[in-house]
Amino acid sequence: MKALILIGGEGTRLRPLTMDTLKCMAPIANRNFIEYQIALLKKYGINDIVLSVCYMPEKVKEIVGNGKKYGVRISYTAEKLPLGTAGAIKNAEKLLDETTIVMNGDILTDIKLDEMLECHISKNADATIALHEAADPSAYGLVITDAQGMITRFLEKPKESEITSKWINAGIYIFSRKVIDMIPSGLNVSLERQTFPLVIDTKMRLAAFKSSQYWLDIGKIEKYMQANFDVLQGRFESLFGDEIADTGIKTGHGSIIDDRAVLSSPVIIGKKCRVAAEARIERSIIWDNVKIGEGAVITNSIIGNGCVVEQGCVIINTVAGAGSVFTRFTRSGTK
Ligand code: GTP
Repeated sequence: MKALILIGGEGTRLRPLTMDTLKCMAPIANRNFIEYQIALLKKYGINDIVLSVCYMPEKVKEIVGNGKKYGVRISYTAEKLPLGTAGAIKNAEKLLDETTIVMNGDILTDIKLDEMLECHISKNADATIALHEAADPSAYGLVITDAQGMITRFLEKPKESEITSKWINAGIYIFSRKVIDMIPSGLNVSLERQTFPLVIDTKMRLAAFKSSQYWLDIGKIEKYMQANFDVLQGRFESLFGDEIADTGIKTGHGSIIDDRAVLSSPVIIGKKCRVAAEARIERSIIWDNVKIGEGAVITNSIIGNGCVVEQGCVIINTVAGAGSVFTRFTRSGTK
């Protein structure tokens, strides 16, 4: 069985972190996010993975390549212009099987894919959508199911009074060829707004797989931060057999932290960083090649690749894009 991961979006909600990289390349506890999705698929014996790229395709190809280093085979389909979540699947159809798993490229999860496939088969479904029970579903689209666990309706941005269940689309799907066949070619088509409603209208079988496993959409800054700390602190079961850092602090290869610097958990520091004496870092994520000067303070912030934080700077609640330079006189905020 093959899997398709959709990674063609611009990840605008993660800007400025995604100004020079892709959401799926953003590090989660010092691993590129896409490695988590590849590891999940591999765990279930899915070793043929197609990546659907559009925005910055060369970045992914350069890092992921043919997948050999992860023990899988990776192939690519590319769009010149974004074709939307369904259009991207159509664009990849020649590379797909009769039944294919499709994942949004921004979901951190340990969903049980074998059980999802069993559900798809036992319900004789044309497509199956994994559902996640959200604590606050108001910002998502609700998915309404019948007593047999088949999807009957989608409710976008529900009003308070309409929230009768909390099950939302988890962005993980199983498709039979029949459904992919009905997506028009070469057009921008949305799975959520166009394809799924059409599947229901044409009386195809759309099953729900309700999962209670860990699930997080990393697409917003605060969720991206949460994903990092959940992995760091063991709230997400490791797909790599890593030990949990009891200290709540993780430092990448080649980073040098002065003994007199103070790191207050949770803190993740990437590769080849320098942290000088008396610097204080708390509840923050530092990407690679970052220089932090003496006495600098970084709190509740994300600092992108190659940033420089000069001596004595105080950075609070800030997201800094790659290469930002903070001098004593820089004000905090998104940079
Ligand atoms: P925002 O700009 O922050 O909304 O992010 P996004 O567009 O990257 O993500 P969104 O949540 O809208 O999309 C869900 C997944 O589908 C992400 O993994 C995207 O990379 C992917 N995706 C969205 N649109 C396209 C598209 O037109 N083509 C392809 N190949 N993938 C897409």
